Amino acid sequence: TKKEIISPSLLAADFMQIGNEIRNVTAAGADWIHADVMDGVFVPNITIGNPVVEAIKSVSSVPIDVHLMIVHPENHIQKFIKAGADILTVHCENNANIFYTLMEIRQSGISPAVAINPGTPVTMVEPLLSLVDMVLVMTVNPGFGGQKFIPDSLQKIMQIRKWSDERNLDLRIQVDGGINEKTARQCREAGADVFVAGTSIFKYPQGYAAGIKAIRGSSV
Ligand code: DX5
Ligand code: ZN
Repeated sequence: TKKEIISPSLLAADFMQIGNEIRNVTAAGADWIHADVMDGVFVPNITIGNPVVEAIKSVSSVPIDVHLMIVHPENHIQKFIKAGADILTVHCENNANIFYTLMEIRQSGISPAVAINPGTPVTMVEPLLSLVDMVLVMTVNPGFGGQKFIPDSLQKIMQIRKWSDERNLDLRIQVDGGINEKTARQCREAGADVFVAGTSIFKYPQGYAAGIKAIRGSSV
């Protein structure tokens, strides 16, 4: 099995200090940096776009994991690749071009991933599994940090892990939303190996390193 990955979500960081936040959380043990791109249409919130992703990339010593929550992602893929995304995640919902978009990401030389919302049946990603390196199972409704983990997500993780094993795909499964020491353990048992966390790292009372260590739990 592959090494577990912790990918802190910058949504919970201090945007005025973003460079220092990235350096500090990486020194604290982050494996990737998770950047949430929201357009106010696909989700009811607006965050950052490709210029900020480019700035993030310029200070980061670890891979940048870009989670697109935007309509018509196919129109913006090349901008985020140029900005320096190492992993580019696109949602399966309302996307007639998802198959092609994932192929385009692969052909551009970076790592494609597909995301699925809590209200979407797991069968939506099933035809896409051979195209991606990772499936992002949303464990809250996308749009905001600081929400409560949705336990029904665990069934989805188990099903995707089963498909991955049956087909020898060796997929990574990422979880995002409400991840802390306790929910990370549940997700790990279900088959997840990439943990995104905003609140439980950037707002962890004992600091970033302790927050990351808590999520890693007994796995290291
Ligand atoms: C939500 C974003 C998440 C969010 C997670 O739509 O995709 O990455 O920042 O935040 P926490 O860890 O606070 O739930
Ligand atoms: Zn995210």
